Amino acid sequence: MKRILILVALAVCVCACNGTDSGYGYRIRDNRIVYNTPPRPAGQQSMLGFACDPIDTVRIGLVGLGDRGYSALKRLPIIEYASVVALCDLFPDRVEKSQERLEKMGVPRALHEFSGDDGWKSLCELDDIDLVYLAVPWQLHTPMAVYAMEHGKHVAIEVPAATTVEECWALVNTSERTRRHCMMLENCCYDFFELTCLNMAQQGLFGEVVHVEGSYCHNLAPWWDGYQGDWRMIYNRDHRGDVYPTHGLGPVCQLLNIHRGDRMDVLVSMDTDAFNGQAKADERYGEGAVDYANGDLTATLIRTRKGKSILIEHNVVEPRPYNRMYQIVGTKGFASKYPRPGLALGAGSQEVLDSDDLDDERFLSDAQRDSVLAAYKHPIAREMEDLARKVGGHGGMDFIMDSRLIYCLHNGLPLDEDVYDAAEWSSVVELSEVSIRHGSMPVVMPDFTRGEWDRLDGVRFAVK
Ligand SMILES: NC(=O)c1ccc[n+]([C@@H]2O[C@H](COP(=O)([O-])OP(=O)(O)OC[C@H]3O[C@@H](n4cnc5c(N)ncnc54)[C@H](O)[C@@H]3O)[C@@H](O)[C@H]2O)c1
Repeated sequence: MKRILILVALAVCVCACNGTDSGYGYRIRDNRIVYNTPPRPAGQQSMLGFACDPIDTVRIGLVGLGDRGYSALKRLPIIEYASVVALCDLFPDRVEKSQERLEKMGVPRALHEFSGDDGWKSLCELDDIDLVYLAVPWQLHTPMAVYAMEHGKHVAIEVPAATTVEECWALVNTSERTRRHCMMLENCCYDFFELTCLNMAQQGLFGEVVHVEGSYCHNLAPWWDGYQGDWRMIYNRDHRGDVYPTHGLGPVCQLLNIHRGDRMDVLVSMDTDAFNGQAKADERYGEGAVDYANGDLTATLIRTRKGKSILIEHNVVEPRPYNRMYQIVGTKGFASKYPRPGLALGAGSQEVLDSDDLDDERFLSDAQRDSVLAAYKHPIAREMEDLARKVGGHGGMDFIMDSRLIYCLHNGLPLDEDVYDAAEWSSVVELSEVSIRHGSMPVVMPDFTRGEWDRLDGVRFAVK
């Protein structure tokens, strides 16, 4: 009997240490949650710097024709060397509406159309598409992307690409095994201020970048009812943590050359109670009918291997102005985007300081700022800005993102955002939740490159 009790106690102990049943889970060691980095399975190779053969015309199959997918149809058909050849949604009327949009734009209707729960599988199985572009609810991203890669297609996935660490590994492993690109469509990396600041950082204007901030602070009150099947509310209702970290993380990880010289190492998250979140759930499902999990504000701090820090926030229920924070603190300069873009480029740009006058620690004037931004405009923005602003999509950044994706596929170049970006940025969904559920315990993050995070030298947008 005593032996049985000891075995039961041991089993309970092991379960308590395992984050998940998979090999991709975690253990608690020395008061830290330590995620496994499993060895690379045989037959796979790294996708760092991967480029496929040039594709003459990139034939696209678009899955998910709701708000985001339908708006992608304003951009994709007018990009040189891109052609939308297949459309799919749960609902046939959304497919037909999308076909009509193509007609109105003066381009051919898509050759193939699918609907229903499993129509996307038939789309992925087509022989005449190169790229599956996914704009579906979060929970469907990884299963669809894996299936598409297994069927020989490159994939572009809306954000976040995955909702669990296990899904992140599934994307990495499938991409490595099938040698197919897997890009997460992190459009905020292509916004104009962010691109220019990246260029400035790469040219040393901020000195050593030591701390960066990013966020998704967006009051979703007008949007909650629009998501098909209530998917977004359900996900927020059921999960704590930063469930939408990539808009904040993407641009600042590029500034820090994450997995191109540095890596995110340890993360700590903390959330508030769900004040407005619970009120919203009460309104929606009835007073006290559900416990709303997602804290109104979630803050996540990440320390990198090279001693830098990142602060990320998520807040979608308070009535506050839209804010992606985007802030750069460097040894020689500072930039912040919200509430209005500002630059401060160190003592050289300021008068002699009076220690009593805090106003002396000021931003460049608007005119000085604008002239620096113009001088350092990113070459990609310089080339595409006019058309991008005309076509639109969050002010133009969506058009730049899609154009870059097609340009790189057409020219056989590495993509700007690779599968490791997709995994690293998306993994924060689970890692932040796990940290919070353990009383804000530090989490040692998995290394999706499996030790190769400093093989590439900095973030580069490839050109032919
Ligand atoms: N990058 C950005 O700025 C941005 C902005 C908005 C949304 N998004 C992302 O885009 C994705 C979609 O969001 P949305 O706002 O368009 O949501 P939505 O609910 O408006 O659209 C989702 C669509 O997917 C379809 N769908 C669901 N199950 C399907 C299936 N089995 N097969 C085919 N289609 C299916 C739905 O019918 C719906 O039309 C999400 O990942 C979201 O995070 C990104």
